[in-house]
Amino acid sequence: MAALSSFSPLAILSFVLVIAIIVSGAEARPRAFFVFGDSLVDNGNNNYLATTARADAPPYGIDYPPTHSPTGRFSNGYNIPDLISQELGAESTLPYLSPELRGNKLLVGANFASAGIGILNDTGIQFVNVIRMYRQLEYFKEHQNRVRALIGASQTKNLVNQALVLITVGGNDFVNNYFLVPNSARSRQYPLPQYVTYLISEYQKLLQRLYDLGARRVLVTGTGPLGCVPSELAQRGRNGQCAPELQRAAALFNPQLEQMLLQLNRKLGRDVFIAANTGKSHNDFISNPQQFGFKTSQVACCGQGPYNGLGLCTPLSNLCPNRGEYAFWDAFHPSEKANRLIVKEIMSGSEAYMNPMNLSTILALDAITA
Ligand SMILES: *[C@@H]1O[C@H](CO)[C@@H](O)[C@H](O)[C@H]1NC(C)=O
Ligand SMILES: *[C@@H]1O[C@H](CO)[C@@H](O)[C@H](O)[C@H]1NC(C)=O
Repeated sequence: MAALSSFSPLAILSFVLVIAIIVSGAEARPRAFFVFGDSLVDNGNNNYLATTARADAPPYGIDYPPTHSPTGRFSNGYNIPDLISQELGAESTLPYLSPELRGNKLLVGANFASAGIGILNDTGIQFVNVIRMYRQLEYFKEHQNRVRALIGASQTKNLVNQALVLITVGGNDFVNNYFLVPNSARSRQYPLPQYVTYLISEYQKLLQRLYDLGARRVLVTGTGPLGCVPSELAQRGRNGQCAPELQRAAALFNPQLEQMLLQLNRKLGRDVFIAANTGKSHNDFISNPQQFGFKTSQVACCGQGPYNGLGLCTPLSNLCPNRGEYAFWDAFHPSEKANRLIVKEIMSGSEAYMNPMNLSTILALDAITA
């Protein structure tokens, strides 16, 4: 007692702090981050696959700070996962298929996303060799085996339980399936509302599987305003109006997705799944581009034809000089500037954007309970 009482309160406090830092030192790295889904979040997996769904030629990546060259991201610069990694204080996740993903890099997490895929296996069949959702989940399991070999079973379980997960999928189930061609097989099978119900039930199975594999904080984004992308304005829109059937699809899908996530949380007894209403933040700058500093939310920065919405973004396309003035980088994908606005809402948006809570709240909560 006598010895202890000779410590000043300040000394004890700094002693406790030092211990805390030593104890947490082994885990001082940012939480791991795992990404699943389609081209909106693909960091370059498709570059390793024989598929046409890839962003591996200039001017893709023209504003990507480290290299200013294409990486497979469907953006002029950073995409949504990159910007979330930055919020976590982490480096960007590597594509799962990258040979650089080994050793300690495995602990950063991984990006399993693949452009062209959907909730359903028959979505994006024209892209042939892409990593479909069930396969992305198998890779997640495989990844955990590799991490286990590195840090052991119990540390691996912690890493996965404490990780942040992002999943963005569903848009292609409309654009590259139901509405791909007139009288598609799926549109003959289901009227649109029943198709949406079917998608939601299949999506729920994928999310349950993600939970079973250890995910405990999962950001689930809805689809964007599918009918308002430059590609649809060019092909289906009338005088710059958004294509109504695709807008109807998004309007059916997003609220049902949110309800399904809340239901899953109730069943699991915890807030595992977070509905990120990215469609709403996207709509904000589509309905009022100037307010967000955009010159246009209709014309793509890179492309050709009406709204620069036809065909792919290639070295021969029209390229806008100032990417920051465009909400859309190519015919389908937001510009880095738009991605920043979306991630800002993910971080600190109100409940209309993030249900039941935003990412800064999650990070604060998990820091307390960790
Ligand atoms: C997709 O394919 C995999 C592998 O064949 C299968 O296990 C899975 O059930 C399929 N998913 C759907 C929704 O049909
Ligand atoms: C979202 O995040 C901000 C902090 O950036 C916080 O003040 C706000 O209350 C949060 N909103 C909700 C609904 O959690």
